[in-house]
Amino acid sequence: MKRLTGFQPTGNLHLGNLLGAMRPLVEAQETAESIAMIADLHAMTMEHDPPALRRSTLGVATMLLAAGVDPARTAIIANSQVPEHAELHYLLECVTAYGEAARMIQFKEKSAAGGPVRLSLLTYPVLMASDILVHDVNQVPVGEDQSQHLELARTLATRFNARYGETFTVPEGVRPESAARIMDLAEPTAKMSKSSVSAAGRIGLLDPPEVIRKTISRAVTDTLGVVRHDRVNQPGVTNLLEILTACTGSPAGAYSSYGALKRDVTEAVDALLAPVRKRHAELSDDPGYVREILAEGKTRVRPAALATVRRARAAIGLLD
Ligand code: ADP
Ligand code: TRP
Repeated sequence: MKRLTGFQPTGNLHLGNLLGAMRPLVEAQETAESIAMIADLHAMTMEHDPPALRRSTLGVATMLLAAGVDPARTAIIANSQVPEHAELHYLLECVTAYGEAARMIQFKEKSAAGGPVRLSLLTYPVLMASDILVHDVNQVPVGEDQSQHLELARTLATRFNARYGETFTVPEGVRPESAARIMDLAEPTAKMSKSSVSAAGRIGLLDPPEVIRKTISRAVTDTLGVVRHDRVNQPGVTNLLEILTACTGSPAGAYSSYGALKRDVTEAVDALLAPVRKRHAELSDDPGYVREILAEGKTRVRPAALATVRRARAAIGLLD
């Protein structure tokens, strides 16, 4: 069993990313061979700032290590550093119809946002298919927003295999078993996201304890005055209960006041994030180490990626 988890490079990683994506990856490394991939190539499909991109790529790699990803078991790579991703991308473009790419929801949304549309935004999901297929992975944990892209990866693998002969493993999308869906603390009907308008709803993974305490103490609740797990009528309170459960790993007890619940949530979030912050600070003192980890990851995954590309080149009719 081989898994690949992809991360967009972003500077604003939050509690949702840790509980929904990084922790499941850490847990999966006990049972599956895993690759953690930073999609820095994908980050160039919209307008970007080169120094910020470099910082974010290293930042996500640093955070993965701080969150407990063990580089001895999980290869951490950037898709730009393994050239087979880009090479296979082109071969896969040759089995993708223009209309298939143009009808992707994410393309429609992002291209409607105004400004010039990069051609790479259109081919974004083909590159994502390449990220997956080049490593012969069986499982890809993806959230709802990426399921259409995952489906395209499956379609392209199946089509290539049917036209040119068995070449790719057809991947399966999975929901990580232990993934929590953390909602925005200021607007608990929306998920906590780096793109949410206000920072008041988000707990950053590097927020100092004082900021965490303030954010949680200001979290939106309701006027019902009882602590119940009721997503429809008490989304704020329910989110706090779920955060507590996700952080401690055990069901939340009974609470008679919102204040007491918030105090326990603050304590649990702090207990979860304090060691992450500490390890992150140590790693940040040594950026050379993080670069080395990426180089090691690349060395580890490359032989299999090269073999896949060789197979695909031969199947599609290219000279070796
Ligand atoms: P964002 O919404 O902040 O832009 P991404 O879409 O980049 O986050 O997601 C990165 C990873 O983190 C994905 O695997 C996604 O499922 C997970 N994730 C993001 N937000 C949450 C959340 N609020 N709760 C749980 N998991 C989340
Ligand atoms: N598109 C994914 C996202 O926005 C990131 C990503 C790129 C990815 N390549 C991938 C995810 C391959 C899984 C597999 O989150």
